[in-house]
Amino acid sequence: MTGILTRFSGRDALLWGHQPLKLTHDLGQQALFSRPALARLIETYPREHYSLIAMGAKHDSKLWQEGDLGGASGETVLDAITQGRLWLNLRNVSGVDAAHGHLLDEIFAELRQAMPGFDANKWQSGILISSPGAQVYYHADLPGQLLWQIAGKKRVWLYPNDAPFLTARHLEDIALFDLEVDIPYAPWYDEHARVFDLAPGEMLSWPLNAPHRVENVEGLSISMTVSFSSPAIRRREVVHLANGLLRHRFGIAPKAARIEGPGYFAKAVLQKLLRDSHWVRSQRKARREVAFQLDAGGQAAGRMAAE
Ligand SMILES: [Fe+2]
Repeated sequence: MTGILTRFSGRDALLWGHQPLKLTHDLGQQALFSRPALARLIETYPREHYSLIAMGAKHDSKLWQEGDLGGASGETVLDAITQGRLWLNLRNVSGVDAAHGHLLDEIFAELRQAMPGFDANKWQSGILISSPGAQVYYHADLPGQLLWQIAGKKRVWLYPNDAPFLTARHLEDIALFDLEVDIPYAPWYDEHARVFDLAPGEMLSWPLNAPHRVENVEGLSISMTVSFSSPAIRRREVVHLANGLLRHRFGIAPKAARIEGPGYFAKAVLQKLLRDSHWVRSQRKARREVAFQLDAGGQAAGRMAAE
């Protein structure tokens, strides 16, 4: 198959979702990912759909600070990211920008054509722009994930998606608290990781929920991040959230993570009743707050600068 994925083979189709897989793509040639297009996108991007994060020392997610672009020009923002320890996540670019939405639909049409059993039915893309020394700490995501490198080089560590690297309880906590980086990590985990160097024109796919961490190794990094869901992935998320509620709200240690049968439907109802409750919202809110703002010169002002 040739298309946006430039060399997708029958072997890749067999490995997809079961093993980490590095593929090639041609997104770098598209005008949508040129620097002027990205600068323009930053300037017009709605506040509720981006995150700007300043990073602390290695592996200490407590030193993350969330900030605001404060109306800085796209070029100023790109320069500030090139020089700092920041990352900007335009989280829902496929929903905000029609051209990005069409591009993503085209990608999933290609994937579904290459893999008739691939049942993804929802997808979303983001653009992640991060500093040359930036890193994303050890975490796991509930939806399926793809990482497309556009500019700069990254190193990605991918860990097995089972114990001790990832447990049912971790998945419950992610579903309940909506914050992926709080699962435990130890440096010896790296001995069990597969490590991939990701250059522009390369894309990485991995098994569902596989924990991972990322370090930028060269240059300003621009990536497209893709999340996707399917009926089975959606059912797993319902069960993780319901089991998390049982454990944290009601003190019951859940035993099953089945995604069908009467137990599943009871949990589906439970999480639907409680997922927007005051308790869940206050738990999530307590874990996030905005602490700094980029000023016109691209400097981080506020609590970040004072510490
Ligand atoms: Fe991730």
